[in-house]
Amino acid sequence: MRYVTAGESHGRALVAVVTGVPAGVPVELARIDADLARRQSGYGRGGRMAIETDRVVALSGLRFGRTLGSPVALTVANRDWDNWTDVMAPEGDAADAARVTAPRPGHADLAGCLKTDASDVRDVLERASARETAARVAAAGIARALLRELGVTVGSFVVSIGGVEAEPLADPSAVDQAAVESSDVRCPDPAASAAMRERIDTAAAEGESLGGVFVVYARGLVPGLGGYAQATDRLDARLASAVMSIPAIKGVEIGDGFALANTPGSRAHDPILYEAGAGFVRPSNHAGGLEGGMTNGMPLVLRAAMKPIPTLMRPLASVDLETLEAVEAARERSDVCAVPAAAVVAESEVAMVLADAHCRKFGSDCLGDMLAALGAYRARIAR
Ligand SMILES: Cc1cc2nc3c(=O)[nH]c(=O)nc-3n(C[C@H](O)[C@H](O)[C@H](O)COP(=O)(O)O)c2cc1C
Repeated sequence: MRYVTAGESHGRALVAVVTGVPAGVPVELARIDADLARRQSGYGRGGRMAIETDRVVALSGLRFGRTLGSPVALTVANRDWDNWTDVMAPEGDAADAARVTAPRPGHADLAGCLKTDASDVRDVLERASARETAARVAAAGIARALLRELGVTVGSFVVSIGGVEAEPLADPSAVDQAAVESSDVRCPDPAASAAMRERIDTAAAEGESLGGVFVVYARGLVPGLGGYAQATDRLDARLASAVMSIPAIKGVEIGDGFALANTPGSRAHDPILYEAGAGFVRPSNHAGGLEGGMTNGMPLVLRAAMKPIPTLMRPLASVDLETLEAVEAARERSDVCAVPAAAVVAESEVAMVLADAHCRKFGSDCLGDMLAALGAYRARIAR
């Protein structure tokens, strides 16, 4: 299962096309809208999110609430389009007024203009903007619908914002997801949530921006998804690549990740035990559910680091692309912090990779055949 997206930040609409979708998967568009709403939420978001109320519209691939096995095309309208037609489709003098020529450090602006021979940064930023991630969340709604039928749950929560850290959880995959969703920074620790909000308020007042760290987890995974035989089969590589593809994500850690580098082997790895009835069990999960490029039957746990938002209300130094004079970087309406939203996007990316891994292992023609193959596999490895 794969997706592509199209659409500019202030264009008419975002589009996602999902291919490799098994037939017979029940899809509730309201659930996709709920995920889109989670991506829009979060303390520290900019004015744009108050304008948009994202709703998905399915154009193809679904009939009577089930997938047909054909590509699923989805759109999410940009309600802001009406306010931006003079910027996105300007003529004459308006075209000059709409130009942005001061690239923002930390964004795609400068390298994108050099690469494409553009001097209007808007030609680049409209597509490089993370507004595109709404289309990813919509696309992943199809993956999540399949995973739900296969008994797999994917979730996320925020563990730090701007240096304020939540109390670590012994088992991140057992987080109280209701508590996460009731926090406007998507953090299960109420004291840390309050401190994060304060840190965001201070940053906003100072014209600053903040990054942070979040966890994505998945439960209900059988061992053996992914593969060890080729570099491209390895699920750890595919997950890291998918999460790193999200704008502003600068690090991905699987299980205990970087801490394992400083831990002796006897305490870094998870012993293998056998219990009648339960089969192979692991008393710990330092590996984050992945060994040898495959799931090992334990919950998947990964963490990702997001850099601070590049658009600053007290902009850094830049250079005007036309005059080559020193100027302040452009200001765009912007989030101060988007870590809670990025975690939802990462859930979506992880869901797409996991759905695809199931399709590779259990076939992808139709849900019934996948469930039969999964059931037979579970029965075999339980013996
Ligand atoms: C959900 C989300 C929302 C974002 N909102 C903004 C924003 O409002 N303003 C901004 O300048 N960058 C925002 N970003 C970050 C930029 O998209 C990102 O820093 C930029 O694409 C460059 O990152 P890169 O160097 O990793 O590609 C957001 C990122 C995500 C994931």
